[in-house]
Amino acid sequence: MALDRFGRTIRYLRISLTDRCNLRCIYCMPEDMTFRPRDELMQDEEIFTLVRVFASLGFEKIRLTGGEPTVRANVVEIVRRIASTPGIREVTMTTNGILLPRLARPLAEAGLRRVNISLDTLNPVKFRRLTRWGDLEDVLEGIQAAEEAGLTPVKINAVIVRGYNEEDVVDLARLTLDHPWQVRFIEMMPFAGVTEVQLRLAVRVPEMMARIEAALGPLIPVNGGRLDGEARVYRLPEAQGTVGFIATLSQPFCASCTRARLTADGHLRMCLLREYEVDLLTPLRQGASEEDLRRLILEAVWAKPWGHGLYEGDIPLNRTMSQIGG
Ligand code: 5AD
Ligand code: SF4
Repeated sequence: MALDRFGRTIRYLRISLTDRCNLRCIYCMPEDMTFRPRDELMQDEEIFTLVRVFASLGFEKIRLTGGEPTVRANVVEIVRRIASTPGIREVTMTTNGILLPRLARPLAEAGLRRVNISLDTLNPVKFRRLTRWGDLEDVLEGIQAAEEAGLTPVKINAVIVRGYNEEDVVDLARLTLDHPWQVRFIEMMPFAGVTEVQLRLAVRVPEMMARIEAALGPLIPVNGGRLDGEARVYRLPEAQGTVGFIATLSQPFCASCTRARLTADGHLRMCLLREYEVDLLTPLRQGASEEDLRRLILEAVWAKPWGHGLYEGDIPLNRTMSQIGG
């Protein structure tokens, strides 16, 4: 079992399959983003080896992220292999949804359990402004395809950016009245690449909640106000779905964090918002045994930072969000 020095058992691994993306969201990367050469990224077999090693340490939940995981070649086969690894109980994915109309069914058949789909506004003009390249219609079709393929319950992720979509929280929350979805509102976090935008235009959860309650009525806590993963979950009166808030800044959830991240270039990162990483890919390529890799992983887990340092002005600047895997 992988235990950190604060007593947290780490059993949840988020794997970034690629740093590439078919969108350029303004809160994630610059428009002229440059990507890593492919030979610096984990190859399929390298991913499977690492997943096997993580599973042998008690990791049981895998979430595939990016960049955009669906633009990775062979993504369906990758899901199939990971889902059939002994010890892995659940494989999920965070995606922008654009490619789901053609991939949702094969991914579900390969063993993918659920998807989180990013959708920051229901207004096509604002959607284009936020994603630079995106077409809202593609994402809406992607959500429908996910539902039809049984990748449910669908969760929607919305990052809120001042001057872009802070008013859209109302329309997004309203979706939960008629759909059994969880719409989650995320406080924007700072990384490298577009740090200035991320710091200047962040909106806090209390403001989002106030806007929603003023328009749609009281948000009633679900789970007695306890965290569901990183989100605090509420329900609007009579709603089929739920509304979640990820308050990294205004109400950090670091104390209950059970996750680790594997970057597309094979570095184990123990906190999204801390620069600390341990390179697993280089040792793997140099012939490290599974036992060696287990030792490296357990050391990294033990050294997992207590939490982020945004209050002290400690911003992780060694990577963009898309390189870490959100
Ligand atoms: N802050 C918070 N969330 C972000 N995401 C991308 N960039 C940021 C940021 N700066 C989100 C995406 C997606 C998930 C992978 O991370 O919207 O839902
Ligand atoms: Fe792509 Fe997701 Fe980053 Fe947007 S937030 S650019 S969809 S990786």
